[in-house]
Amino acid sequence: MSALDTERPRTRALRGSILHFLADPAALGPKQAYEYFEDGLLLLRGGQVQAVGAFEKLQAELTFDTELEDYRGHLIMPGMIDTHIHYVQTDAIASYGEQLLSWLADYAFPVEGRFGDSDYADEVAGFFVQELLRNGTTSALVLGSVHKHSADALFTAAQAQGMRLIAGKVMMDRNCPDYLRDTPASGYEDSQALIHKWHGRDRLLYAVTPRFAPTSSPEQLALAGRLLDEHPDVFMHTHVAESRDEVAWVAELFPDNRSYLDVYDRYHLLRERSVLAHCIYLNAQDRARLAATGASAAFCPTSNLFIGGGLFDLAAADAAGFRVGMGTDVGGGTSFSLLRTLDEAYKVLQLSGQSLPPLRAFYLATLGGARALYIDEQVGNFVVGKEADFVVLDMAATPLLARRCSLAKSLEERLFALMILGDDRAIKATYVMGQRRHAR
Ligand code: GUN
Ligand code: ZN
Repeated sequence: MSALDTERPRTRALRGSILHFLADPAALGPKQAYEYFEDGLLLLRGGQVQAVGAFEKLQAELTFDTELEDYRGHLIMPGMIDTHIHYVQTDAIASYGEQLLSWLADYAFPVEGRFGDSDYADEVAGFFVQELLRNGTTSALVLGSVHKHSADALFTAAQAQGMRLIAGKVMMDRNCPDYLRDTPASGYEDSQALIHKWHGRDRLLYAVTPRFAPTSSPEQLALAGRLLDEHPDVFMHTHVAESRDEVAWVAELFPDNRSYLDVYDRYHLLRERSVLAHCIYLNAQDRARLAATGASAAFCPTSNLFIGGGLFDLAAADAAGFRVGMGTDVGGGTSFSLLRTLDEAYKVLQLSGQSLPPLRAFYLATLGGARALYIDEQVGNFVVGKEADFVVLDMAATPLLARRCSLAKSLEERLFALMILGDDRAIKATYVMGQRRHAR
């Protein structure tokens, strides 16, 4: 490499249909919220977006040494963002027949116990990160197990792929098996050490992760709040109001609180960069608190159906004005694919007389997820200077998808077919910082 090459990284380019969002279609009206280039060009330099637009307009930017990849006939979109997933439950996916509290006891806790073995943690972390990429997911907010090295294993695997990933070791000091129990002091110290080691290293970020109110003592919840006060740009990640039995249990454990969400509020855990999975059994005051504090909800439809928790109310979330992203919630959720997740989200909303237009759905899986995680200055769309995480979608990945798309008369109709019929087979390639990390 010459000195000039090291100073000015070579421009790379991808040609194909390109879609990305600039705003929430529900807030702005669909036409102003997105850009679509039927024959588009995405120019990259040094892992960042240099330009995006119509091929016709941008082709003058191509030079003799631009490396051009031709994806004509395919759809290039920002990488999808999973706002809630448990990597330590990879091997608990598709476990039969329980509702939340017994599902945790019978399946989730035993499999998480295996993370006491660091070789197992390393192996699962490597598989998990590959599975994200195979499904077109380039960023995720991830729970580890209670074991400190579960977080080390995941960060190491994500770092090797150059991913922007947020994760944390679970804190839980009660109402769980002894083999999964930390203490307020050890949970605080281990989280503190992990923050120092990983938060802000390459593209990795740390989330303080009290599992949910029933498995943390008041003392531990207070220390989680202290960690956030000490590290204001660190994330908070937990569950709230997923099932009726869980809500009733929290009312018994915290009789003085106004609601389940109020427990977190009292310990100062609701803030910007706080993400709460499920948010099903909330009242108007709870929703107003999420909006006022800047906390976000992760909507996890495959999990809510599989575990039987209930139906997320997206219209109420929109009316209250808090941030929402899509979560797979594997292993309570049944797929790593955000396409499968959008399919189930559509059906969950149908059961409540609501809907999910396809443009909104793909916004939620990309820029909406980035906003929910407060990483939208870095990723989520193709605004110039953003990190070039993106996915190439094959609209003819299966005979049925090809057939249905060939009948579609609009972009919206093709996107809808993709979210209802698509899965990992539709992910032709996944790129992280402009580097191809998965290809079919
Ligand atoms: N609530 C507390 N822990 C969990 C978990 O592991 N999965 C789900 N779906 N809900 C939870
Ligand atoms: Zn979960």
